[in-house]
Amino acid sequence: MSSDLTLILYLISAVLFIFSLRGLSHPESSRRGNIYGIAGMALAVITTLSTKIVINYFEISIAIIIGGSIGTLIALRIKMTALPQLVAAFHSLVGLAAVFVAAAAFYRPEAFGIGNFGDIHRSSLVEMSIGLFIGAVTFSGSVLAFCKLQGLVSGNPVTFKFQHALNGLLLLVILILILFFVANEIESYFWIIVIISILFGILVVIPIGGADMPVVISMLNSYSGWAACGIGFTLSNNLLIITGALVGSSGAILSYIMSKGMNRSIISVILGGFGGEQSQTQSEKDSDKTFRQGNAEDAAYILKNSESVIIVPGYGMAVAQAQHALREMCDILKREKIKVRYAIHPVAGRMPGHMNVLLAEANVSYDEVLELEEINPDFPMTEVSFVIGANDVTNPSAKSDKSSPIYGMPILDVERSGTVLFVKRSLATGYSGVDNDLFYRNNTTMLFGDAKKMCEDIVKSLDNI
Ligand code: TAP
Repeated sequence: MSSDLTLILYLISAVLFIFSLRGLSHPESSRRGNIYGIAGMALAVITTLSTKIVINYFEISIAIIIGGSIGTLIALRIKMTALPQLVAAFHSLVGLAAVFVAAAAFYRPEAFGIGNFGDIHRSSLVEMSIGLFIGAVTFSGSVLAFCKLQGLVSGNPVTFKFQHALNGLLLLVILILILFFVANEIESYFWIIVIISILFGILVVIPIGGADMPVVISMLNSYSGWAACGIGFTLSNNLLIITGALVGSSGAILSYIMSKGMNRSIISVILGGFGGEQSQTQSEKDSDKTFRQGNAEDAAYILKNSESVIIVPGYGMAVAQAQHALREMCDILKREKIKVRYAIHPVAGRMPGHMNVLLAEANVSYDEVLELEEINPDFPMTEVSFVIGANDVTNPSAKSDKSSPIYGMPILDVERSGTVLFVKRSLATGYSGVDNDLFYRNNTTMLFGDAKKMCEDIVKSLDNI
């Protein structure tokens, strides 16, 4: 294949990736977005395999079969709630690939057309060291993020004195080493940059705890994009440069949007120290408070005698995979001419769009799903808020308690509706570890139990009324 044709096909792939990102920005167009992405990637792989630089199809086929089988197996088995750690694990591979490509280019520069060993073009050495640094940071940071999310190490923030100063110092050392490496091309500097960058990646992720982890995953996603971009320069591959830049910038924008949704600055997320365990236990806090408890029959009665219901889903609905049973319950209510809508908080669950994806999976109509700004004014006119597995996103302390770690986060005003039905298993806190005063209010009824089981029981009770 001629290099002009290769360039044109790469350009088409890049355009398909841009359409893919555009499609993925809304639930309604996300399937189309995925198809564009698959088409872009298929075209990119076929084009690369058709170029003259491929010397051994056999080894590549073996790698595709092994990698493809592992990927398919993981995609079929993975639970929606484990997606963040899967994404972290995949990012670590992108980082590692960047380190390997840089090493290959360093030891066999003639194969990459960037000079000879010991005499590599200066600009290529700069690109190589940047890719190496970002790749190594992405690798170790992602491995640690995976271990935290998978519960292999504690998810609590680890902070110590002079932590930021140490990080700053390490960054400075890496920059100086890169300058020396580019000037002298000494082999040992290459590997010292790798080791210090790996250490830096770990130190950047250890102070980040609990609720901030998804933001870190999105930032690591961004780093992996820049690492791929760096590889693209080393390999003189325009598609990798464009795709890397797309992933890098979209990851950075997503991190910004997520931080904004939690009302936290991206800098405070990076500096870490949020999302640890509570100093006071929940039982100690709750001992002097009273709350009203109900069961599925009570809930069915209240729901059936209302005219409007707003469903507020959260992380617990995802854990329980309650979306199908919930939709069945809502279908019955709609048949009774009750107005049912779903309220989506921007950071409900553990990933951007987490709730939208689950509701779409259960075939909930997009017109019934409303964003926080659209639905909040309607709570005072609504008879019942049915909060299912959500907690932090409804916590009114975010509006008034300046000492609360979620202070300033936008909140779904469920307490302003006539009755609040809270489906969860206990009075335990949500991800931020903050107690929710709503549980103890007069217009709240707690429905303790697994979200899916509770919806199924309510469906049975509704049928019997
Ligand atoms: P949370 O505040 O984490 O509350 C979820 C609740 O679900 C828990 O209190 C838990 O209570 C309940 N639960 C767990 N398993 C359940 C089950 N099987 N059945 C019924 N209930 C169950 O969730 P949220 O309201 O969705 O808020 C999301 C939190 O994650 C926020 O703090 C947000 O800042 C953070 N976060 C989100 C994102 C994104 S992008 N979505 C990113 C970063 C951080 P029990 O244990 O009592 O059942």
